[in-house]
Amino acid sequence: MVNLKNRSFLTLKDYSKEEIRYLLDMAHRLKKAKKNGRVGTALKGKNVVLLFEKTSTRTRCAFEVATLDEGGHVTFLSNSQMGKKESLEDTAKVLGRMYDGIEFRGFEQKTVEDLAKYSGVPVWNGLTDVDHPTQTLADFMTIEEHLNKPLEEVKFVFTGDIRNNVCYGLMYGAMKMGMHFVCLGPKDLQIDPEVLAYCQQEAQKSGGKIEVLDNVDEAVKDADVIYTDIWVSMGEDEALYEPRVKMLSPYKVTTEMMKKTGKESTLFMHCLPSFHDFETEVAKAKYEQGIDIREVEDEVFRSSQSVVFDEAENRMHTIKAVMVATIGNY
Ligand code: CP
Ligand code: NVA
Repeated sequence: MVNLKNRSFLTLKDYSKEEIRYLLDMAHRLKKAKKNGRVGTALKGKNVVLLFEKTSTRTRCAFEVATLDEGGHVTFLSNSQMGKKESLEDTAKVLGRMYDGIEFRGFEQKTVEDLAKYSGVPVWNGLTDVDHPTQTLADFMTIEEHLNKPLEEVKFVFTGDIRNNVCYGLMYGAMKMGMHFVCLGPKDLQIDPEVLAYCQQEAQKSGGKIEVLDNVDEAVKDADVIYTDIWVSMGEDEALYEPRVKMLSPYKVTTEMMKKTGKESTLFMHCLPSFHDFETEVAKAKYEQGIDIREVEDEVFRSSQSVVFDEAENRMHTIKAVMVATIGNY
């Protein structure tokens, strides 16, 4: 019997297949209940704080709406004293005295681990430089809604910046669930050897498979999912766009790449935000300098195979499940 009460959610490496299954099942149930008009009470009397060092649209809104939907109270904190005029340890202890749970988005994974260590309450990882576990849950939920097969039978291809936080988070989850995961990118972009070794070891236990390939045709053949993310992540130097564009352009998601899977059912997925067109200041400015940072063609992004807004919505349902499972009254 799975019981996640009082557990932190720092990385899917800490969670078993059964525990991930439990969270996904709860998210599907909570989504259905909300669509049926049910008013939740699982977080009634609970206070949660959202500590942000980086910007966000989905993660912040998902945590806020999920808390309010279940009757809880929420504080958004993006200008704390932490690390400036007050140590992390003291901040964690203070927040732990006032709140039942803490969400953290920022740079280092160690920060989220230390918050959990010192606060005494569950801490949820809302993205660090090396992981994004709540994104993975939303993506797996979305796959289950759209593909008529269990996760164990899914061939998942992540193309582009294969050593970023979203890719690593997905790799960890995929290995736990026994999926076939392909990292598609140039040889020069080396995945952290420790991350790869961990995934290979987990694949042996779960019956999953992890491959790192640089050949597009070979990688995408029979893929159920083609997933990508922006080429320069938050916290990285903008000067990296130019070399990354040179390196990653062959791995951009195009209509041609989608056709190469040989399946009309292949889903296009993206965590968002995306530079699929020139409607943002960054994409426009770079284009004017001759640098095309679009990681996916607009045509694919807007196609019927694209489920990117379902993923965005499912951030809320899965984050709700994580909070209800770890601090909820039920
Ligand atoms: N996908 C995601 O984490 O989006 P935000 O950066 O907007 O939270
Ligand atoms: N890799 C991206 C994900 C944003 C949700 C970043 O870290 O900026």
